[in-house]
Amino acid sequence: MRKPIIAGNWKMNKTPSEAKALVEALIPLVKEAVCDVVVCTPAVDFAVVSKAIEGTNIKLGAENVHWAASGAYTGELSADMLKECGVEYVIIGHSERRQYFGETDATVNQRTLAAVKAGLTPIICVGEKREQREAGYTNALVSYQTLIALAGLTPEQIENVVIAYEPVWAIGTGLTATDEQANETIGVIREAIRSTYGDVADKVRIQYGGSMNPKNCKGLMAQPEIDGGLIGGASLKAEDFSKVVNFDK
Ligand code: 13P
Repeated sequence: MRKPIIAGNWKMNKTPSEAKALVEALIPLVKEAVCDVVVCTPAVDFAVVSKAIEGTNIKLGAENVHWAASGAYTGELSADMLKECGVEYVIIGHSERRQYFGETDATVNQRTLAAVKAGLTPIICVGEKREQREAGYTNALVSYQTLIALAGLTPEQIENVVIAYEPVWAIGTGLTATDEQANETIGVIREAIRSTYGDVADKVRIQYGGSMNPKNCKGLMAQPEIDGGLIGGASLKAEDFSKVVNFDK
């Protein structure tokens, strides 16, 4: 029903020459994928990666986008700039941006609106910290983060948005949510979307992210609510990432 989508988030890794080598190694390993395959790279890698993936089933993504069309925002990149570089997807509101760069739910929403307007597919990250899960706030928090991010979009636009549920305590820690925990929280996110936008919720793809790797991807992907993965560490090695992409084989 929903086509799975596995995306790599390279974060601040890979120079252009390293990016070229990684993506060239990846191309033959993922060419039979049943899912959408995306690599979200640092902007300095767009040129080499977009050239290397021409004519393949790999799509290019960015790791952030500014909400303004242009202007005095030193160091930022607009949606049109990304588009012209061959970018099709963009991660918005990653927990590292929320933690280190002052990202808020309101700016996540502004970035999402700009991305959709430009024809980019946003991958919107939501997720709770460990103490929030322990205090029982997870469901309320991820619902709130999701609905604020989507505010102002039509149901037709929301159909093409991707959400990534990334429990902050599982990112880069080797700790993963259990298959059931991830499935349950993703179900909560889907119901939040349904409560406001109706049955389009059944079409929205919701990924899991947080220490997802070749070993645990099969169990996670077997869950009915989980439509893919946003992969950090394991996306930096072609073989590991390809094993996640080929979770069905
Ligand atoms: P890890 O897979 O390294 O835990 O990172 C997950 C993540 O943050 C993807 O956006």
